[in-house]
Amino acid sequence: MQLKNSGSGRKSDRGLLKHIHDISYLLTQSLDLDAVLNEIVDHVITGLKYDRAIVMLLNEDETKLECKCIRGFTPLGEKRAWEKPLILNRHDCFETRVVRSGKPLFIQDIAKDPNITEIDRITAKYQERKSLLHVPLKVKNKVLGTIGVDRYRTKMKISQREFEDLAIFANQAAIIIENARLYKELKDEKLLSENIIKSSINGIIVSDLRGRIIHLNPRAEEILGIRKEEAVRLRLHEILNGDAGSIYEKLVTKGNSRHFEIHYQRQDGEKLILDLAPFPLEETNKVPSKTVLLINDLTEKRRIDEHLMRVEKFAALGSMAAGIAHEIRNPMAAIFTTIQHVETKLEKSSPHKHALQNVTKELDRIERLIRELLNTVNPFPLHMEKVDVMDLLERALFFIKKKSSDKNVNVKFELEGERVYTKADANRLMQVFLNIMINSVEAIKGNGKVQINVRKIKKRDLRNPFIIVKFTDNGSGINPSIITKIFDPFFTTKTGGTGLGLTVSHKIIQDHNGFIEVDREEKGTTVLIKLPLVK
Ligand SMILES: Nc1ncnc2c1ncn2[C@@H]1O[C@H](COP(=O)(O)OP(=O)(O)OP(=O)(O)O)[C@@H](O)[C@H]1O
Ligand SMILES: [Mg+2]
Repeated sequence: MQLKNSGSGRKSDRGLLKHIHDISYLLTQSLDLDAVLNEIVDHVITGLKYDRAIVMLLNEDETKLECKCIRGFTPLGEKRAWEKPLILNRHDCFETRVVRSGKPLFIQDIAKDPNITEIDRITAKYQERKSLLHVPLKVKNKVLGTIGVDRYRTKMKISQREFEDLAIFANQAAIIIENARLYKELKDEKLLSENIIKSSINGIIVSDLRGRIIHLNPRAEEILGIRKEEAVRLRLHEILNGDAGSIYEKLVTKGNSRHFEIHYQRQDGEKLILDLAPFPLEETNKVPSKTVLLINDLTEKRRIDEHLMRVEKFAALGSMAAGIAHEIRNPMAAIFTTIQHVETKLEKSSPHKHALQNVTKELDRIERLIRELLNTVNPFPLHMEKVDVMDLLERALFFIKKKSSDKNVNVKFELEGERVYTKADANRLMQVFLNIMINSVEAIKGNGKVQINVRKIKKRDLRNPFIIVKFTDNGSGINPSIITKIFDPFFTTKTGGTGLGLTVSHKIIQDHNGFIEVDREEKGTTVLIKLPLVK
């Protein structure tokens, strides 16, 4: 059936224009597709005076016609329409024919129309249809679906003019439907990008070319310890402690610069190692107007790597030392017995007697050292219990204060923090605390201070909450050249030291599923111990 030009000045034109105008406002609305289709069908039923209408749209791969809005049919008919899409190359019916051909299908009287099939006639009879009309929904020659209408109750014929009106109306409706679809696609895409940025495991900061921060995602807020509202007033170099101020130079001069690492200190004092990867954000005309900075927090990974390295080193050196110690013990026992034997043979007044006594004393010292070493490598089983960390520190402090008051030093101790509990062998943990405090006292020449701080780290996304015990002294500090060696067995810079204090401490903390870490300060040293938190 062809659309005919039925001349100008038709009475119904104004009515049609009104409906087209009424639905056109949908173009400027951000309505979803269902709402748009409902309004269109409302106008078809009430405005263009049909009593049944169905909108069917092609699915994404254009193989099926799916019912998207239906009005005026029986509940069963509507249910079937919703549930049974029409397969385009299998079903041969009015709707599929319209979509395949892209042309409207107008049948004024089914009983008399020579072009319809026998099946069409039977279905139409079953549905009590007389005139029916299906027009394609088309945008730029692309068929989106169809609108089908009829007058089931009034049984009034559809006129040629009404057919033309619906075809014109459908043109506008198709544009609106396509618009709503595109809008939804755009919205979904925007939502997707927003969600990716929001839930990214990397921190993301977007800034303009002058370094002013425009956006930062929740992970960046978490890593840098700064709120978005606070950050957007700042420039990048102000946030990144000035360290990354050259990011823009790198971008401007080299284009995409590679990753680089910075040391970052958060407002709460936490020191982090961050990997930064900046890249320009190309928008229009391929001119970058913004910069994206990806931030990856490497601190924990570095900590674990270092810890594992220490564990390996300790295992190798420890077992070697233990082997040697074991071998030394036997000849030592022989030497000891021989000397004792010789000593008893000597006259009381013999000048050699005193010398031999000194040898025995030194042998005793070696024996003690070996015992300590073997203990470290093969310690006794741990006696785990719930331990009040503050209480244990207070007891360790009591010991230390007594010990350091004998020496000629004046060390002030400050202990602060929360009452927290961990699961530990109290004696072993006490040994660790004492080793660290003794090191601090030994590093302080004259007057100084040791600050001890206890806090728990309990974040919502943290499966295993933990405790941090931090010891900070303002003593001599550690030379950077030896920082990687201080946990090695027998490494010492002290004349009377054995170099086992930190080795033993590391082993004990490792047996408690914790971490120990030593940091150099501008003046002095910080030791951090991480232990599991228990209720
Ligand atoms: N708080 C500190 N300040 C400065 N240097 C430290 C500190 N703690 C450890 N060190 C350095 O690390 C080295 C190793 O320490 P560790 O406790 O293992 O052995 P030690 O103290 O030398 O001997 P030991 O503890 O067996 O008597 C020390 O010799 C020292 O150089
Ligand atoms: Mg020590």
